[in-house]
Amino acid sequence: MVISQSAFLDLSKIVYEYSGNHFEENKKYFFEKQVFSRMKEIGVNTAQEYLSLLIKNPKGEELKKFVEELTTNETYFFREKKQLDCFVQEILHTIKELKSPTVPINIWSAASSSGEEPYSLAILINEKFPNLNYKILGTDINRRVLSMGEKGVYSKRSLKDVPEHIISKYFENKNNEFFLKESIKRHVKFQQLNLIDNFAMSSIKYHDVIFCRNVLIYFDEKHRKKIIESFYRSLNKGGYLFLGHSESLGRDLQNFKLLNQRNNITYQK
Ligand SMILES: C[S@@+](CC[C@H](N)C(=O)[O-])C[C@H]1O[C@@H](n2cnc3c(N)ncnc32)[C@H](O)[C@@H]1O
Repeated sequence: MVISQSAFLDLSKIVYEYSGNHFEENKKYFFEKQVFSRMKEIGVNTAQEYLSLLIKNPKGEELKKFVEELTTNETYFFREKKQLDCFVQEILHTIKELKSPTVPINIWSAASSSGEEPYSLAILINEKFPNLNYKILGTDINRRVLSMGEKGVYSKRSLKDVPEHIISKYFENKNNEFFLKESIKRHVKFQQLNLIDNFAMSSIKYHDVIFCRNVLIYFDEKHRKKIIESFYRSLNKGGYLFLGHSESLGRDLQNFKLLNQRNNITYQK
């Protein structure tokens, strides 16, 4: 089954306007598959009918569910580990020195997916500074992955890059399901947040560090610029922004200062 080109363009425009995620022609097959899966789920027979339903409820539950089917949530513990180490070993030390121990260090994992990124940070922080006062906020547009993060139960695949001694220290293995310990979970809170929702973005304030990795690639220039501006506002003066390895602010640094620490690019407010 295929959908017409005009239905594809109209549906992808609705998705773009809500989530900023851009679906080019080369992703049409995947896109179609998700349209049919949603149609089947709710008992709609034609793509045209599905389109009308989304147009009628531009901020409705069905659009949210559709977008959730379309997001790429690939993530795993200790992804791009050199960057995480650089943060914990170099930058966190600097932040810690400047902050009163009674005020928590606020870290935001923007687009946290199912929690592997914020929990990796919490584990590495615990290894280096076991008594540090800090909080991590994990946000994502996708409620399904956020609830996985809240549960904190992972498969062996998610832990493929984690050394055995760390797995046995921080997880309980029950029939090959790995339950993260409460001592780590308690540092991380999850919240749904759409990175292109300016109003919601402006509610996230006073952060010392933002990790936004492997998501900017899904946005066009216009949205990337707005997201970076929001991050700038959400950071405390001197705060840090980390992007994924294949992402950068390029020439458009806006007001950020570029730092190069141990070959890791970091941006500072
Ligand atoms: C590939 S994962 C990256 C996870 C993690 N940061 C990492 O690097 O391993 C990208 C995440 O971005 C989320 N995402 C996509 N569009 C978004 C938006 N508009 N607002 C918030 N999150 C979004 C997806 O739901 C997905 O979980």
